[in-house]
Amino acid sequence: MKKTPPPPQKTRLSHSRGSAALPDRLARAGEIGVSIDRLGELYEIDLSRRNKIDKKVRGQYFTPGDVAELMSDWFLPLKGENLCDVCCGTGNLIVPVLRKLGRRKARALIAAGRLYLYDLDETALTICRDLIGALFGRDIQDAVRAVPGDFLSSDVRLPENCKVISNPPYSKIRELSGAWTLTDALVSSREYYSAIMEKILDQSRASVIITPYSFIGGKKFYPLRLAMNGRSGFIVSFDNVPGNIFRGKKHGVFNSNTSNSVRAAITVTDDREKAAGYRVSPLIRFKNEERAELLTPARLESFLGKTRQSVTPDAPRFRKCFPALEEILDRWRQKAEGETLSDLLAKGGKYALCVPSTCRYFSVASRRDLRRVGKYTLAFDDAQAWGFAYAMINSSFCYWHWRLYDGGIAYPISLLKEMPSVYHRLTPAEKRTFFKTADEMARSEEKFLSYKKNAGRPQENIKFPTEYRERINRLVLRVLGFPGRGPDPFGVVHSNRALSASEGE
Ligand SMILES: C[S@@+](CC[C@H](N)C(=O)[O-])C[C@H]1O[C@@H](n2cnc3c(N)ncnc32)[C@H](O)[C@@H]1O
Repeated sequence: MKKTPPPPQKTRLSHSRGSAALPDRLARAGEIGVSIDRLGELYEIDLSRRNKIDKKVRGQYFTPGDVAELMSDWFLPLKGENLCDVCCGTGNLIVPVLRKLGRRKARALIAAGRLYLYDLDETALTICRDLIGALFGRDIQDAVRAVPGDFLSSDVRLPENCKVISNPPYSKIRELSGAWTLTDALVSSREYYSAIMEKILDQSRASVIITPYSFIGGKKFYPLRLAMNGRSGFIVSFDNVPGNIFRGKKHGVFNSNTSNSVRAAITVTDDREKAAGYRVSPLIRFKNEERAELLTPARLESFLGKTRQSVTPDAPRFRKCFPALEEILDRWRQKAEGETLSDLLAKGGKYALCVPSTCRYFSVASRRDLRRVGKYTLAFDDAQAWGFAYAMINSSFCYWHWRLYDGGIAYPISLLKEMPSVYHRLTPAEKRTFFKTADEMARSEEKFLSYKKNAGRPQENIKFPTEYRERINRLVLRVLGFPGRGPDPFGVVHSNRALSASEGE
């Protein structure tokens, strides 16, 4: 029978083992009696107040409770006899795992020497072990295998037959260390999280890791993605607005700033035997009020695409696609036969398009040279090619292309130019229809001008009515062989909610 986890205990740090190593301020908090569960949080608050810069350098970006619960749900059924928390901090990830395991099983696991904790910060490691001792028994606390030091050091190796839960640091590598094995993923990315993730994937049987989402598409993370080709599992990723995965932790340099905080991904890697690639979710955008309903394994797994993805030099990124749109994406790429927007461009051409380089909920092209910072100018020799590009950029396809492969702050011009194009497949009548639609929109641009302040100055943009976008979507879908008259399938792409479609501003 499943045992109910014990209620949080009160403790006095001065009575607990290992307390001598704790900072004074924490010890004082202990003297007035705090819930044992809040010890780690107190240490995190203390860290953020003591030295914000140091915290940034070490990349201490702590996992909120609901995310830790979710990760433990994914972690527990994975194969692996030894349990490891790499970069454990004060235990935000491993404690929920042990609680879910139940007191009897957790004690047996610890007593058998099958629980491993790794962290550079010895104080955090001491708190983590102390907390586990307080919750599961002081008599077995010393059997926890706590490994202080740099996880990247070649001397540190994960045990055989292990599974790993981890939230590694999110900071840049300033200098390569002679103590490390210099893998391609480490040298190319120069990011701690990517190097640690690669080492975990290499040495473990299975894992659940939360990191920034940048490895899914970023160029410098290609060697990491290549290393992932040998494994299988799934990746869910989250946008950082309106809701944010790291919200709810108010202390700390990173966690207090919602607009700039990281877009996160959780990567679950299965047993090595089924190395068939990763199923990937779209970049999930959610509202804070959806958080509790969204952050469950079943809900999140319902966002995963059916395709198991591996990368190749021709398809070097994972694509973050809504499952319902996978068929359209495949058809779009097939029909384009490798043709992209860049094939339609002509340097110095007399037909020009202006494209704002940022796009939160939709992408825009205009004939008008928009008064703003951050814009690209595209030129064409041919009016019909111009019309097609105008329509495509104002349709859902262009915006979706960005969300599939990037979805960060700006639309890189290189990615825009890589957008698949079916222009060469159009009949003369279809070319005329695209041009007519583009021309009609271009004539109405002034009516739909919108302004948003940025750096104290109004930035010009255009917010066309969604009818235009849906009209172009229908045209493109017909070309791709989806002539149906059903509702526009792209509502989910523009939505600022995860569980129902509702377009953001
Ligand atoms: C993002 S925090 C995660 C803490 C905790 N696991 C959580 O999820 O809240 C990253 C942790 O990695 C540790 N760390 C940073 N660099 C490390 C390294 N090279 N080797 C081992 N641990 C490291 C930090 O001390 C910090 O505790």
